Amino acid sequence: MKQKREQWGSRWGFILAAMGSAVGLGNIWRFSYAMGEGGGSAFLIIYLLAVLLIGFPVMLIEFSIGRRTQTDAIDAFKKIAPKSGWFIAGVMGVLAAFMILSFYGVIGGWSLRYLFEYLTGGISGDSSDFFVGFIGGTFTPVLWQLLFMAMTIGIVYLGVQKGIELSSKWMMPILSFLLIALAGYSLTLGGASEAFAFMFQPEWDAFRDPQVYLSAMGQAFFTLSLGMGAMLTYSSYLDPEERLTSSAAIIIALDTLFALVSGLVIFPALFAFGLDPAEGAGLVFIVLPNIFEALGGVGTLVGLVFFVLLSMAALSSAISLLEVAVAYFIRKTNLGRKKVTLIVGLVIFALGVPSSLSQGAMDITVFGAPFLDFMDAFTGNLLLPLGGLIMVLFVGWTWTKKEILHHGDVGQQAWGPLYVFTAKFVAPVAILLVLVIGLMNW
Ligand code: TRP
Repeated sequence: MKQKREQWGSRWGFILAAMGSAVGLGNIWRFSYAMGEGGGSAFLIIYLLAVLLIGFPVMLIEFSIGRRTQTDAIDAFKKIAPKSGWFIAGVMGVLAAFMILSFYGVIGGWSLRYLFEYLTGGISGDSSDFFVGFIGGTFTPVLWQLLFMAMTIGIVYLGVQKGIELSSKWMMPILSFLLIALAGYSLTLGGASEAFAFMFQPEWDAFRDPQVYLSAMGQAFFTLSLGMGAMLTYSSYLDPEERLTSSAAIIIALDTLFALVSGLVIFPALFAFGLDPAEGAGLVFIVLPNIFEALGGVGTLVGLVFFVLLSMAALSSAISLLEVAVAYFIRKTNLGRKKVTLIVGLVIFALGVPSSLSQGAMDITVFGAPFLDFMDAFTGNLLLPLGGLIMVLFVGWTWTKKEILHHGDVGQQAWGPLYVFTAKFVAPVAILLVLVIGLMNW
């Protein structure tokens, strides 16, 4: 018999770890540029709808699969539906873990590099030149990516309780505190009213662009860590009796709040300096350093706080991505957690090198986009919604109503029937519609 499977130490340990997974580069780096490109408020409204109508049911569905089966993303499907094809969702999930973490580690590395720059006085000169020069390098960005991956590997290596849970219990409160402090400061810079208008005043034209729907839904999946078994894997370390619905509600509410407050950090500062929100993926790494520089002495401190925040948020998410693959290979091989974590982590690092090099050192493009940008869009806008779709179909259409209610921990709730209806119809139809329309327009 193998060793007993690991479990969380407490319910709050699980919630904080899942929150750590959800809150990441997606909330700050990806949210701000997607919103900037998606016309601000229109993107925000569609994104909030997607979180509510798709994010919540999909998260509860992942939780119910994980808590019910107490195993990894691939085995979970084989356990409930042996001799069927549903486990493809798990296979896609483990593949997505490799793909997402490969480029996530690159950006985590950038964030670490900036952290160290601000530790030693900040970035001098033109921040755009600095960024382009840095990410276009061959060895330096790869070295920072390696450092970031080493930290990720280190935490996962220590296990569910001593690594993931403990680190999340430290990082999440610190993150929240730093974010609120930064937002408070940013709102004093003079761009607050313009930022509020940009974020909250609907601009109807943007609703006509189908691409905004796809990117808003992709963002909902990405920021909530859905569609590839991360939440499934985390919930598999829960006691089968543990509550789910309130946990899902807390995680989703706080993740959304985190994204909104990040917007209140970035956009007021942006408008205060008359800069363009549609700057794209470089927003956080080019525009913000410009602002920090313009703030003078205090800017170095603000920059340091910001990149500590970004790096921690990235790290607590990266560990959940690594854990999806690690959980699978721990069961599949007899190498044990430590060896599996090292091997899988290093393989993912290696897979990320082309993403890093695609930023200027070499010409690595797919469909005309640099490899990293392609991986980002491909996984977020396509792979995750597709994985989520398969999971809702699996639960909605192969489980009995009683199973859906019981394993989703919705049995006693008045909105039980609404949840079943959403799982069966609303969520799958919404995902499919957005996917098809988005792809036709691509
Ligand atoms: N949610 C994280 C973020 O917002 C990224 C992330 C972690 C993720 N685990 C995931 C995305 C699993 C998709 C699937 O940055």
